Amino acid sequence: MEALKAIMGRRSIRKYTGEKIPEGDIKNLLEAAMNAPSAHNKQPWHFIVVDDRAVLDKVPEYHGYSKMLGQASHAIVVLGDNAVQDTDFWIHDCAAAIENILIAAHAMGYGAVWLGVHPSEALIKGTKDLFGVPGHVTPLGIVSLGVTTVEKPPRENYNEERVHWNKW
Ligand SMILES: Cc1cc2nc3c(=O)[nH]c(=O)nc-3n(C[C@H](O)[C@H](O)[C@H](O)COP(=O)(O)O)c2cc1C
Repeated sequence: MEALKAIMGRRSIRKYTGEKIPEGDIKNLLEAAMNAPSAHNKQPWHFIVVDDRAVLDKVPEYHGYSKMLGQASHAIVVLGDNAVQDTDFWIHDCAAAIENILIAAHAMGYGAVWLGVHPSEALIKGTKDLFGVPGHVTPLGIVSLGVTTVEKPPRENYNEERVHWNKW
């Protein structure tokens, strides 16, 4: 799929068939994630790929907006290593990685949605406890992924009032 078409057509998809996404396609999504831009090219990201049904089902126990994981094929937890990037740039880098996963998933015909974790202390703790994340690493978000039959129309978010030319 052409890049602009993939960006403009991406939507949050929360309904999945339950079918498994092949591992090769998950690798493609991780490659897309790791090709995101990164401040000082530090690439502070880590990714926990979750395909264990028992673990997927544990996330909604502490994350109130993640019920779709009940039908998801995989989740990818995106985390920043604060020992590698000790400024807030880790957030920017990991957010860019998440967006790359979402766009790539859409381009490949899969459904995906970003589940926010950081900056909620409760969600950070829940995620760190469930996945055994070390102290110097912080989860930014979780991507829920699945095979979907749902098609949502592209949004038309363009807003001329938010565009400023040369000055505010
Ligand atoms: C930082 C962030 C956190 C989000 N957290 C959740 C979430 O916890 N659960 C969820 O279902 N959607 C979540 N979303 C998806 C938004 O609800 C969605 O992007 C928004 O409603 C716009 O819809 P669209 O993605 O289809 O354009 C999150 C999106 C972002 C950027």
